[in-house]
Amino acid sequence: MPSNLRVPGPTPVPPDVAQAGARPMVNHRGPEFAAVMRDIITGLKPFFGCAGDPLLLTGSGTGAQEAAIVNMLSPGDDVVAVVGGVFGARFADIAAAFGASVRRVDIAWGQAARPEVVAAALQPLPRAVILTHNETSTGVTNDIAALAAAIRAVSSETLIIVDGVSSIGALPFELDHWDVDVVITGSQKAWMSPPGLAMVAVSERGWEAFRQATMPRYYWDFGKARKNGANGTTPFTPAVGVAFALQEALRQMLAEGPENVFARHRTIGSLLREGVQDLGLELFAEPAAASNTVTAVQVLDDVDAGALLRGLRERHGVVVGSGQDWLKGRIFRVGHMGFVREEDVEAVLRALRTELATAAA
Ligand SMILES: Cc1ncc(COP(=O)(O)O)c(C=O)c1O
Repeated sequence: MPSNLRVPGPTPVPPDVAQAGARPMVNHRGPEFAAVMRDIITGLKPFFGCAGDPLLLTGSGTGAQEAAIVNMLSPGDDVVAVVGGVFGARFADIAAAFGASVRRVDIAWGQAARPEVVAAALQPLPRAVILTHNETSTGVTNDIAALAAAIRAVSSETLIIVDGVSSIGALPFELDHWDVDVVITGSQKAWMSPPGLAMVAVSERGWEAFRQATMPRYYWDFGKARKNGANGTTPFTPAVGVAFALQEALRQMLAEGPENVFARHRTIGSLLREGVQDLGLELFAEPAAASNTVTAVQVLDDVDAGALLRGLRERHGVVVGSGQDWLKGRIFRVGHMGFVREEDVEAVLRALRTELATAAA
């Protein structure tokens, strides 16, 4: 049975992207790879909303989270970490692991971070605020434009560091316009590519912070990545096959047009949310902040989440994500980012309808 992979990453890879990823290897310090790098760096810009060149790192999203921390901060720096789920908590933990003095602002899981709540945490003024654009564990999208504006109303110095792992490429993002300093993402999410590459955009303020930051770093050094990137290469051996795939994925995303990509995610997000509610299920996220890349659905009290997910997979080829942390067994998560069409989520809804009817029988 063909699999309808609907976990919130890794996401399905279009056939042409998979084929590109299988191209014969090249010298990663030669002209072929430099051309691939150039296409990727240029192609990322409209999705990051930045004029500067994004960086290409080989690693997963967590590696990029660590990279953002160690390149921007020094041990002892006061950091406000806004935590509304598993990935916000991970970002806070990484900052603490490298010696930042972390003040957590905990948001009820399923709720968006309110600008006034974040603004109230800025006394004393921290060196940085860490935000999650799209909290993949709860299906909540935070309004980074509004949060960044609230922070900038208080400080033009505080760094704004954003995890955009499950949003950039699918939801609009404007690093320059919103005055954000660092945003990270990963190839296996909205980018329709296999796991292995992380992409990062850094503001001018961010580069100034990089020059002052003293946390230990080597592999993740943004300075090395920038210097090499300007010459169409990377400091260390990159995930060359993933770069081939990402080059082709970006070609397809740019051909569709970023605005159309964002609109498709909006349409599919609301289609899935309405369909799920029509089946009598409730969403976990507050409606105003429900994500257009991942939907968290509450499991009915009398339904065994494990059996439901198994039934979806074994009888329908629909693979969705389970709940994480204390949400295990209480929610399941449907990914709808990257290579996703209306028929993919319609198939999820059909499978759910059948399985829920079986569970109730
Ligand atoms: C918002 C967010 N941040 C960070 C990560 C960690 O990424 P990775 O699993 O690629 O290390 C994920 C992965 O799902 C994520 O969704």
